[in-house]
Amino acid sequence: MKFEKVAVVGAGEMGHGIAEVFALAGLPVSLIDVKQDILDRAKSRIADSLKHMASRGRIKPEQVDQVLSRISTYTSIEEGARGADLAIEAVPERIDVKSQVLKGLEATLSPDAVIGTNTSSILISELSQFLSRKNRFLGTHFFNPPVVMKLVEVVKGPETSDATVDAVVELMKSIGKVPVRVKDSVGFIVNRIEGPELLYFCLLVDRGLAKPSEVDAFFRSQGLPMGPYELMDYVGLDVVQELLKYYAAKLSKDYGKCRTIGDLVSKGYLGMKVGRGFYEWEGGKAKIDLSRQTDKVGLLDVMLLEVNEAVKLLEEGVASPDDIETAVKLGLNRPFGPITVAKTLTSSEAREKLEAMSKDFDCEVFAPARSIRDGRLREAIEGRLQPAQPKPESTQPQAPQPAPISGGTAYGDYKNLRVAKVGDRVLRIALNRPKLNLMNVELLEELGAVLDKVKGDPEVFVVLITGEGGTFSAGADLSAYVADVVQFSEFSRVGERTFRKIVELPKITVAEIKGYALGGGLELALSCDIRLATPDATLGFPEVTLGILPGWGGTQRLPRLIGMSRAMELILTGRRISGKEAHEIGLVASLLGQDPDGEALKYAESLATNSAPIAARFAKMLVNKASEVPEDVGLEMESTAFGILFGTQDMKEGVSALLQKRKPNFRGK
Ligand SMILES: NC(=O)c1ccc[n+]([C@@H]2O[C@H](COP(=O)([O-])OP(=O)(O)OC[C@H]3O[C@@H](n4cnc5c(N)ncnc54)[C@H](O)[C@@H]3O)[C@@H](O)[C@H]2O)c1
Repeated sequence: MKFEKVAVVGAGEMGHGIAEVFALAGLPVSLIDVKQDILDRAKSRIADSLKHMASRGRIKPEQVDQVLSRISTYTSIEEGARGADLAIEAVPERIDVKSQVLKGLEATLSPDAVIGTNTSSILISELSQFLSRKNRFLGTHFFNPPVVMKLVEVVKGPETSDATVDAVVELMKSIGKVPVRVKDSVGFIVNRIEGPELLYFCLLVDRGLAKPSEVDAFFRSQGLPMGPYELMDYVGLDVVQELLKYYAAKLSKDYGKCRTIGDLVSKGYLGMKVGRGFYEWEGGKAKIDLSRQTDKVGLLDVMLLEVNEAVKLLEEGVASPDDIETAVKLGLNRPFGPITVAKTLTSSEAREKLEAMSKDFDCEVFAPARSIRDGRLREAIEGRLQPAQPKPESTQPQAPQPAPISGGTAYGDYKNLRVAKVGDRVLRIALNRPKLNLMNVELLEELGAVLDKVKGDPEVFVVLITGEGGTFSAGADLSAYVADVVQFSEFSRVGERTFRKIVELPKITVAEIKGYALGGGLELALSCDIRLATPDATLGFPEVTLGILPGWGGTQRLPRLIGMSRAMELILTGRRISGKEAHEIGLVASLLGQDPDGEALKYAESLATNSAPIAARFAKMLVNKASEVPEDVGLEMESTAFGILFGTQDMKEGVSALLQKRKPNFRGK
């Protein structure tokens, strides 16, 4: 299939831009509309845009006229579309208008020519009924403005041939666009992913939970150029209302629940175009009081809604994970899309939060997608969903779980930690938060307080750090720290201070890793002297894929442990590794078996018995300094420490025990 001449029908907002894109790529274009003055206006908009590009050095000045000369204008399809290999309709979003144009194209074009529609919401299957060349008809959904936006959703209707899709995808690439392949479905990718968010913001104001200005102030503070309500005003509340009606008819009745927008539209407050919507507008700017921000909205909530909808698209086979990620990034100008966000989540945390949102708002749209409910989020985002779905979690046979460590003597009362002296001279600190032990400031401060207390405790030789609930820690509690920038930096500092306390603790520290050790969780483990892990534990630094970095010592401690090359790879890709692989690359000292808690405790007790505490304290300090000081300085420090140990009772005890072939009884003296 070769595309050497293109026809664009409709020279409005989108059509003139689409014509410009093809002409810029060197193709002759026929631009068709109902009236010549519309076409003249379109051409003059194209000329302005080309001149702007030339002034910015993006094209050469002589190209302005060359590109313009490739665009011919027509007021009739019969004349304009004749001889085109590809025709794209960009006429208003009304079936009656589109059907008439499609029939005109069908009659004019050669049977081999391909027809594309720029529809944003009508199904390809609904439009293909007006054509007999159903195999050569597809969606070519450009984003506004087409010259700037790289994304094109290439939508395959039920009867579109693979060859047609392949050829159009290649064409889009050749003209500098980034095409994504989409199966015919309501909203395609980008508009569909935005649906639940739109509903969420509508319901938020309906229920008086937050004021539009407070929500917009929050989103502006997060670096967004516009908040959601300002954006709705900008797009037009009548357009938003139409979209909600369409989704209510096609996706869920929940979309029909929004009241405020309907009220505003009925009063004629349609947004920017009439000077009033959620806000009053003057000179193209909304008058918003940004002095107060809401604390009722979290970025994570909004991202979760996107993740949930993305998973539904994957379940429906609408697009691949990569194409969903690309579409959201390019279509919504985001640094990352829902698939990246989903990589930082577990099914259970996503499910828990979505169930709560669904309940709070009485909205089925927010309820977790089937794969999230079934604990298969990872499979979904890795494109590994099988058609046959597993039984719900509750009916799955559960592997026998070893009993949690109990007993010991409580070592203070903490909200986010369980701390007890267990076994012989071992202090066990277990992170204990409901959601995979995500760390917040409160937890870090409690951990710091425990470390301060145990520092001078002569009865404790080894500190074992682990997590309750089958997991170590899935990282920092993002929902807490994205709330504001000041908190964010303070959170970072508290983490650094606390983890430094672990590194400098004059006791042996051991991390017992099971479940997840991600981001801050892995940094906590890295600040311990020894790491033990179950083979199926998941370790990784997803930070860079979220636009942040491993900030609690991850970038410094990981290369020292496993070398620059491997550390770079893990940090820059965000790749997760198993406990088994972590052991193979030396990140983990030893693997745990079926009863990780019991085995880790045994390991810690054995250290507490066999390693003399003062010797261990100096040895730990020297090993930590090894990569920081020149070798001769390190050796000097080693000799000095060696000298100090000579006078200790523990050294005498260690040597005597060896000679008497018995276990030593070190006292830390
Ligand atoms: N505007 C956007 O941001 C946007 C983004 C993506 C997709 N879309 C879709 O693109 C399509 C066009 O939207 P738009 O915003 O460019 O609309 P528009 O109203 O700006 O332009 C439509 C043009 O089609 C012309 N037209 C109407 N009937 C015609 C006919 N029978 N023959 C030839 N021309 C005719 C009109 O005169 C007008 O110039 C719609 O399907 C819309 O959903 C719009």
